[in-house]
Amino acid sequence: MGHGIKRKLAPHHTFPRGLMSEILDLPTRELVQPPDIDLRRIGSHPDHWYPLAWSKELKPGKTYAATFAGDPIVLIRPKDGGAVFALEDRCAHRQVPLSKGVVEGCAVRCCYHGWTYDASGKCIDVPYLGKDKLPNGVRAYPCREQDGLIMIWPGDPKLMTEPGPLGSAHDKAFKTRRFGKQVRCHYTFMHENLMDMNHQFLHRRQMGKIAPRYLGRRKGEDWIEVDYSFARTEGSQPLGEALILSSRRGVSKASQDLMTIRTEYPYQTLRIWTSGDEPVMHLWIAYTPVDAEQKFNRTFGLLSVRRPKIPGLLDIAWPALVWFTERIFSEDREIVEMEQRAHDAQGADWNVEVFPPIRDLRALLAANGQPIVPVVRPPVEAR
Ligand code: FES
Ligand SMILES: [Fe+2]
Repeated sequence: MGHGIKRKLAPHHTFPRGLMSEILDLPTRELVQPPDIDLRRIGSHPDHWYPLAWSKELKPGKTYAATFAGDPIVLIRPKDGGAVFALEDRCAHRQVPLSKGVVEGCAVRCCYHGWTYDASGKCIDVPYLGKDKLPNGVRAYPCREQDGLIMIWPGDPKLMTEPGPLGSAHDKAFKTRRFGKQVRCHYTFMHENLMDMNHQFLHRRQMGKIAPRYLGRRKGEDWIEVDYSFARTEGSQPLGEALILSSRRGVSKASQDLMTIRTEYPYQTLRIWTSGDEPVMHLWIAYTPVDAEQKFNRTFGLLSVRRPKIPGLLDIAWPALVWFTERIFSEDREIVEMEQRAHDAQGADWNVEVFPPIRDLRALLAANGQPIVPVVRPPVEAR
């Protein structure tokens, strides 16, 4: 089987020579045997910021029910413009969701017996008890709202750092599209999908015949970035792609376009340069695990496109760009969901990974995550 892989790769390769020998030097056993660690059973490490919702999904005076890796979390936006806060979505009394409750000032009142919790999770009122008899509250999560996203820190609050910029969404020189949906797959399939540009074949109907050329990679402990250039071998450039690239192209040729895809745990970015030092496109994307087994993720993408010199041009072109990116995203979603279903059916990771950057990426994701173990939490008094 391993020899078969080698024979199949050789005549078709689009990789530079150095990389090809890297692939051919891999021991056959490593190519075909499942790795010791099943990457799909590694959970997202909680000591990072994860988006739970778009800002526009949470109106003033309302609650929003979300989950992080199976843990129910309620986001609450006070009516008076106060900061959004996040609590465990479980009343300390009878464990019903606080998201069904009523927002009162900077607190939420449970819909059942009216126990009330402030932004720190402290119980501040039980209507039928004296103030000196109040029970313990619920867990509060550090929460930040930035560039249209509401993010929480699900891990150890002592390790918390402030979130960095989310791509170029804060930069007025760019117009940003916010997109994403729940995708029925483990987040690691998403990382592999975006970083492995050898899958352009999947998008052949949208992108025409594009041959990616791998240029090289750099890596550290919690990051890896991969450079590609693209050459169009056949057909014309589709409109959506032209809209992203055209205004900045100047005299450069398609083959000089540079794309860098980076996983900086747990996020990914994709930047495209056509000329100069500034990217023309900057995608920032996060995959928040939804369920305890992490077989679902909610994808939050911020796609920022540099505004062309002619004002308004990008706005006119925007619907076409939205359509184009939506089509690409839906093809990717369909395929990664198929990968998850195969993993479910096989009960293990049978992947045969031959592309060294993706082998490095998989090792990085395994090293930075943590094994998924079922957690039984003690009641709040015992914590
Ligand atoms: S269940 Fe929440 S107040 Fe009783
Ligand atoms: Fe794709």
